[in-house]
Parts: sequence; structure tokens; C-alpha cells
Amino acid sequence: MMARPVPGCHVDALFGHIVTMHGTRPWGRVLDAGTGRASLQFVMGLQTESWTAVTGDDGEERYLARELGAPARPGDRVLTGHWRDATLLQGQVFDVVLADYLLGAVDRVDPYFQEQLLERLRQHVSGRLYLVGLEPLPDRADGEGPAALRELMRLADVTRLLAGERLYREFPLEWVQRSLVRAGFHVVNATVFPIVYRTAAVDRQLAGCRDRLAHVDAPTRAALEARAVRLAATARDAARAGGIRMGSDYVVTAEPTA
Ligand SMILES: C[S@@+](CC[C@H](N)C(=O)[O-])C[C@H]1O[C@@H](n2cnc3c(N)ncnc32)[C@H](O)[C@@H]1O
Repeated sequence: MMARPVPGCHVDALFGHIVTMHGTRPWGRVLDAGTGRASLQFVMGLQTESWTAVTGDDGEERYLARELGAPARPGDRVLTGHWRDATLLQGQVFDVVLADYLLGAVDRVDPYFQEQLLERLRQHVSGRLYLVGLEPLPDRADGEGPAALRELMRLADVTRLLAGERLYREFPLEWVQRSLVRAGFHVVNATVFPIVYRTAAVDRQLAGCRDRLAHVDAPTRAALEARAVRLAATARDAARAGGIRMGSDYVVTAEPTA
């Protein structure tokens, strides 16, 4: 399962913003172009005519069927495929396309495809695109707690590489807005949501490190795990005392240009 890169501390705010932006428009046919538990749960709760959810991950379809009972209605479907494949949903158009943390995950699934992805999605949007993304994290964070969390996230990337995985590559809002225009959209709205990390987010980072270190030789595992545990303890203290403010998410609302 490919999880959202950001702990769901304000998932509701991001989806709530999309609902507000959508107003009284009908949802019609919806495409969840980079699906996962959170976005599909959101889409399944909307008054849609039908929905299609796409994942590039082999195990995700089974996971979503098990966790959400998806798809529940005859016209709905979860598809496994890659957007680079021109035959995927060829000629099919949707009233609403949701790209929820899809952009940042492309490097893990299909590196260097990000710019083409937006052009590819353009073919499928008749009404609106809602793009949720994460600003690239700052290289350094000020203060003991934020610095420990940032270091723990860096260590998490190290464990991904050691486990033979590719890393997420996030794109700044400014890049997204420029690329959307180039891909044939106009931006209706762009809203930034500062992130506050809580203890659950710290625990998830540590758990992810531990899972991936299971594939690594014992001495390396012991050293890296000890470091991860120390960093998590410092970060957890700060998260408990009011949360750690670092980075931001954004939601871009865009429509095809005529
Ligand atoms: C980080 S997850 C998205 C999070 C998800 N929306 C949620 O609610 O948890 C990224 C999703 O995009 C998919 N994905 C990434 N690159 C893709 C590509 N090139 N083609 C198709 N799916 C892709 C992944 O397989 C995964 O299903």
C-alpha cells in the first residue's frame, strides 16, 4: 500500500476545502487519479454518478477492496495501471478529476513523468481538476523538535533506499501552477495549508523506518534503528507540547482552458 506522504492531521481540511470550492456543482463522474484509502473514502462519500479510481501499485486494489469494500456500486471501478500507458482510460472524460498526492508519488512509480502527467490528466477533465500536493520539505528546521522530526524523515528516506524503494519527489505550488497552465488549464484557486505534525505522525515515521529496516543487515539495522528511536523521542516531546509546525500542503483548483 502506498500511503499519503503526510500524516492525516488535516486531511479533513483539505477535502473540506475541495467540497467548499465545488459548491453546488454536481460531482457527476469522478476520477480519483492517484487513489488510496483517504481519497477513495472521500470520493465514495460524495454524491457521484460513478467513480473510477486509478493506482499504479499492484497490491492497492486488493487493499481497497478489503478496507473499504470498493467498488460497492456496479458503475464504479478501481483500476491498476500507469498514466504513461496511453491506452489507460483512453477517450474517457470525467466531470471531476482528483489528483490527491499523486504528483509527489510519480517518482516512485514512473520517474520523470511528472510534467506529462498534467497533460495526460487534461485529456480526462471536462469540468474541474483538484490537485492536492505537498511543498518540498525544508532542508533544515529550526528548534530541537522540528530538527529531530526533519532528521527522522531523512532517515526514513534512507531506509526506503536501503529497502530498494524509490523516493517521493514533491513539487512546489509555484511549479504546479506554471505547469498546469502549460498543460492547458487555468488556475481557479490555490490554497496553502500549513502542516502541524502530532505524535501519531512521528510514530508513523518510526514504524515505517522499522518495517523497511527489516530488510537490512543486522549491524546497520541496529545503528539506524537506535538513531531513529532517539530522534522520534525528541520529536514526540515537541509534538506533544503543541505540535511541530513544518511545511505545507496545497490544493489547486483548475479548469481546462477553452
Ligand atoms: C501517495 S498515493 C496517493 C494517496 C491517496 N490519494 C490516499 O488517499 O491515500 C499515490 C497514488 O498514486 C499512484 N501513482 C503514482 N504514480 C502513478 C502513475 N504514474 N500512474 C498511475 N498511478 C500512479 C500510486 O500507485 C498511488 O496509488
